[in-house]
Amino acid sequence: MKKITIAIDGFSSCGKSTMAKDLAREIGYIYIDSGAMYRAVTLYSIENGIFEGESIDQERLKREMAHIHILFRLNPDTHRPDTYLNDKNVEQKIRTMEVSSKVSPIAALDFVREAMVAQQQEMGRAKGIVMDGRDIGTTVFPDAELKIFVTASPEIRAQRRYDELKAKGEQASFDDILENVKQRDYIDQHRAVSPLRQADDALLLDNSHLTIAQQKEWLMEQFRLRANS
Ligand code: DC
Repeated sequence: MKKITIAIDGFSSCGKSTMAKDLAREIGYIYIDSGAMYRAVTLYSIENGIFEGESIDQERLKREMAHIHILFRLNPDTHRPDTYLNDKNVEQKIRTMEVSSKVSPIAALDFVREAMVAQQQEMGRAKGIVMDGRDIGTTVFPDAELKIFVTASPEIRAQRRYDELKAKGEQASFDDILENVKQRDYIDQHRAVSPLRQADDALLLDNSHLTIAQQKEWLMEQFRLRANS
């Protein structure tokens, strides 16, 4: 069996990360959540006054990109990678609604994307990696052996996100989340740099009505086909 690169792209909150993490664990590959990297840059910008209301001090952020160090370390309790921003574990902080609502304009900045894509390509140099995001199959790893584009209806995705936040004890309104999901879809698909789109050679996976088990079985089958060819 050869080591391959697996690129999983798709809309927000369609279960990409959970799917990618589980797959990586099952097959012994490294898992990288590229969205967490954009979220970490957003958190840095919030905490360091780079946001003034809705507007972003781009010149300052550009200057400070070199001081933003993001890495992943395996959490021994959850057996999953946690995101570190300048050596601080920010795994919880990057998942709040505040970060979710501010991340799209940060991820649309060309100099932010350039820096993140370069780091992601470095992380995947040795293959044996599952990376999820928006532009992994199109920009980061255009030669990935297995590319999957995941989608589900906005209502189903909002419901999943709502359940997740509730389970963590966070205040949440379904309507606000649905609005946020739709807004992010629009910005992700219409931004000038690396808009979200299905790569020509990506397999489409609509998981609106699939169980986790069905999805996993399908994924493992696709993996075996590519890794054994
Ligand atoms: O997958 P997520 O919701 O954690 O992603 C957070 C944001 O980052 C989302 O608005 C899209 C953006 N993103 C991106 O532009 N490119 C990626 N490769 C991953 C995420």
